[in-house]
Amino acid sequence: MPVTPLDQHGNLWAVMTPSSTYLIGVELDPVTGEAAVLQKYWGPRLSPEAAREAATASGGPATPWGARRHISSFSTPAEIEELLPVDGGKRWGSPSLQVSFDHARSLELHFVEAAVADEGAGAERLDIVLRDAHHPFEVVLSVRAREDTDVIERWTTVRHLTGGAPVAVGVTRLDSGSWFVPDATAYRYSGVFGAWAEEFQLQRGPLPVGELVFTSRQGITSHHANPWIMIDAGEAVEEHGEVWGVALAWSGSWRLTTTHRPEGGVSVSAGFGHDGPRWTLGPGEELVTPPVLGLYTGDGFGAASRSWHEYTRRHVLPAPDELRPVLYNSWEATDFDVTEAGQLELARRAASVGVELFVVDDGWFGERDDDTRSLGDWWPHRKRFPQGLRALMDGIHGMGMRAGLWVEPEMVNADSELYRAHPDWVLHMEHRRRDEKRQQLVLNFARDDVRDWALAWLGDLVAELDLDYLKWDMNRPFTQAGWPERGAAQDRLWIDYTRNVYEVMARLRQAHPRLRIESCSGGGGRVDLGVLRHTDEFWPSDNTDARDRQTIQHGFSQIYPPCTMSAWVTDSPNITVGRSMPLRYRFHVAMAGVLGVGGDLAAWPQAELSEAAELIEQYKSVRHVIQHGRLYRLAGTPGQERSAVQYVLDGDVVALVYNPAGNAKRGPRWLRLAGLDPDARYEVVLGGDAAETVPGRLVQGSRWHGSALMAVGIRPAAWEPVGADHRSDMVVLRRVTP
Ligand code: DGJ
Repeated sequence: MPVTPLDQHGNLWAVMTPSSTYLIGVELDPVTGEAAVLQKYWGPRLSPEAAREAATASGGPATPWGARRHISSFSTPAEIEELLPVDGGKRWGSPSLQVSFDHARSLELHFVEAAVADEGAGAERLDIVLRDAHHPFEVVLSVRAREDTDVIERWTTVRHLTGGAPVAVGVTRLDSGSWFVPDATAYRYSGVFGAWAEEFQLQRGPLPVGELVFTSRQGITSHHANPWIMIDAGEAVEEHGEVWGVALAWSGSWRLTTTHRPEGGVSVSAGFGHDGPRWTLGPGEELVTPPVLGLYTGDGFGAASRSWHEYTRRHVLPAPDELRPVLYNSWEATDFDVTEAGQLELARRAASVGVELFVVDDGWFGERDDDTRSLGDWWPHRKRFPQGLRALMDGIHGMGMRAGLWVEPEMVNADSELYRAHPDWVLHMEHRRRDEKRQQLVLNFARDDVRDWALAWLGDLVAELDLDYLKWDMNRPFTQAGWPERGAAQDRLWIDYTRNVYEVMARLRQAHPRLRIESCSGGGGRVDLGVLRHTDEFWPSDNTDARDRQTIQHGFSQIYPPCTMSAWVTDSPNITVGRSMPLRYRFHVAMAGVLGVGGDLAAWPQAELSEAAELIEQYKSVRHVIQHGRLYRLAGTPGQERSAVQYVLDGDVVALVYNPAGNAKRGPRWLRLAGLDPDARYEVVLGGDAAETVPGRLVQGSRWHGSALMAVGIRPAAWEPVGADHRSDMVVLRRVTP
């Protein structure tokens, strides 16, 4: 079973996943009775007997799983191995839980009880209950493990209990949990940073001694950082080496603090909220954190990504088994100039090249002719759609496509009927300006009346237009985020806002089971495992230049699976960066995820439309492998030099091969495939251009041993040293019985 009690006193548990073990023990300070809930081991899977030994041995200092540090001298503080180090007692590090009682900010927790519950479907949950020595305050640490994933879920609940002496409880830090990375001689971190049109830039470097904070104070996940980190000993590569990963499933502000102590030892604590806000808890009130997820793998960054992808498909996505349709989006083609005739013309062309879902972007509502007005006025633009939008949506459906619409429910323009009617509905503070960004203000979604209003109009819109898809956008971070009527309790809006966004999405889906939702936030500002419980795809970036996109997709794929990565083929030169590129390269890059088209099809010559139709057809024939298969990032720096990504689903193999720089003398020419059955043979279904340039190598119908394809590899035409810039191939192989 995933959670195995290891001793008869009920204070030691082995959390077993298919290939890892996570040991948790409760230790009591013999003098004060204070409880420390410790991570005693996290690494390769151990038998229960070995785990028991490991836990006992961890009392001594010279063990591979680290010294027990909680009863310690001046220089070795208690908290580094704790599951939730608090502000209190002999602890000086960054706390995972910080609470003040009236004016005293210190916790002393004692053990109350622990229980393991069978949650069905191969999942078990361990709850460890702790209570403050004096104040009516309870903390529950929860851990969930499942039989089919190495990802372990943890979260924390805090409660102001009723019945104690009256006390004002203020929570200034409440992380979902802290994870300890076993001792190593060196540590390296991997994470992503970014900006608008430049999201998911992978950074990897030595972890300095000190505290490394990735955070968002924007009320959304943000473009600047994404809530995950991976730690290794500086030796892991794509397919080898131990990697420990932590990710937070939350779409509001967040903070992930990695501490590398001068005495050695690394911990990662992650949770919602950021420095500053204070959440008050009245008697009987509780706060439950979002899940923080931990993953250990012994097989490199590639295996870590595949585990995150598999976990996401099995336990996060609402509709994981569906193949994502090929989408068209009108934004880059028409900007705000949305008309029935214009969209129908684009739709006709989209349908003719094989698009399956047509999404009308911004510009269809209120008096929205540019970005200065009408957010909040969610009725059809009276001049452009005097008869409403139904004819357009029926037209799209009539062409055999699904129909989708862009919305930005959390926003309002000051120049809107909604704002004139409800100026109090936006986030604001007394005696402070209401600063606008992109001419818009943020609606206070923490308010139940705002939530109910959004749910009502969105529900009506979906029903009246028979919509299949919403692109849910969110184009500005919070500023002056207050709710004056709530007084001392107003900081709760940072949490309740996000919860209400989730709730509206969940209830919409419930009421309209066919509806699918894309999460967009000025590109990739809301990409995380929290919103993914209620959405199907992400829009990773407004930058649709295929070269830049390769870098973005590389960072995105570290955690998030290809079936959530929407990618459009747009015009050349690209409207954001001005670079020109062949259609084929643009398609091959977009095919690495959920293929879409976002160019002005009305301006594409017939030859390009025909090529597009052919490539879309090819994508459809392999998309089950790309969207549901296992991803291998094979070689090279994407977008900079020869590189390739490969997908395997059962016996089907697809490789997308890129060479951005035509005259590159260095770098690999042989591409070694991965993840194949070495004993099986594979037949070439599609060889890219290789058949012509490397005779006999990838000729359609030729058969090769899996072992040879992995040991020797293939020689893609796109990788030949001299040729045009931006060459690419799609290679498809299928396992055959010998
Ligand atoms: C930002 C999104 O990222 C774009 O794709 C587009 O939908 C615009 N908003 C519309 O305003």
